Amino acid sequence: MLFFKGLFRKKKHEIDYGKLPEHIAIIMDGNGRWAKKRGLSRSIGHREGSNTLKKIVTFCEEIGIKYLTVYAFSTENWKRPKSEVDSLMSLLKEYLKNADKELSGKNVRINVIGDISRLSPEIQALTKKVMKSTSRNTGMLLNIALNYGGRDEILKAVKAIAKETAAGKISADDIDEKMISDHLYTSGIPDPDLLIRTSGEKRLSNFLIWQSAYSEFWFTDVLWPDFKKENMLEAIYAYQNRDRRYGGI
Ligand code: IPE
Ligand code: IPE
Ligand code: MG
Repeated sequence: MLFFKGLFRKKKHEIDYGKLPEHIAIIMDGNGRWAKKRGLSRSIGHREGSNTLKKIVTFCEEIGIKYLTVYAFSTENWKRPKSEVDSLMSLLKEYLKNADKELSGKNVRINVIGDISRLSPEIQALTKKVMKSTSRNTGMLLNIALNYGGRDEILKAVKAIAKETAAGKISADDIDEKMISDHLYTSGIPDPDLLIRTSGEKRLSNFLIWQSAYSEFWFTDVLWPDFKKENMLEAIYAYQNRDRRYGGI
């Protein structure tokens, strides 16, 4: 009996490595609740969440995911108490500082998406440094969304296109979906195939709202600090059993 149970469990997550989603996006949610459940401070939850991110980045690179985009700080997260924002920023600093070392030998290229102009000069410098130092890596592209908001991103694209139109560089009739995509932070990156949100919430919270038009969504009650490789395989397995019709039949 036990033998068959084991066999079933193994089958359940048997994924096809030849048909991996090219781009996975993750809303890493639930750090606060994870900490609360243990009577710990929210900042400890964020620290655990950052450790989970390191493990998941390595795992995704190893199995051959080409693009991974993670939501680290939204344009709305400034609403949190200053002490929490400060602790998130200091964790971020640490993550960016150590990214080179942690990812050494891993073929990961780091790209930061979002409006970094509102971040401290030190963090801005660190993001530029890590993007430069990993720019030659040819493996997985890790997009870290920092002070990112989907509406803000579209607004910026609209303004840029309006300016080009006003300057007579393009005519309004030239504006098409590709032009809008090309003006987003994710320009040149394929749209996410699979979008994961942890912690049981079932909303986008302003993440990749343009790009996720045809993404497959996968939700889990697992809180981000508890998210394991096995959960990633579970999500990929679910994705591989979806029927993506894109409006067709
Ligand atoms: C996600 O965890 C991390 C960020 C938003 C930076 P939360 O901090 O949102 O955790 P919950 O949702 O309060 O549990
Ligand atoms: C989304 O989570 C942002 C990140 C994971 C960085 P939130 O916890 O901020 O979203 P809401 O407030 O539950 O929608
Ligand atoms: Mg949350």
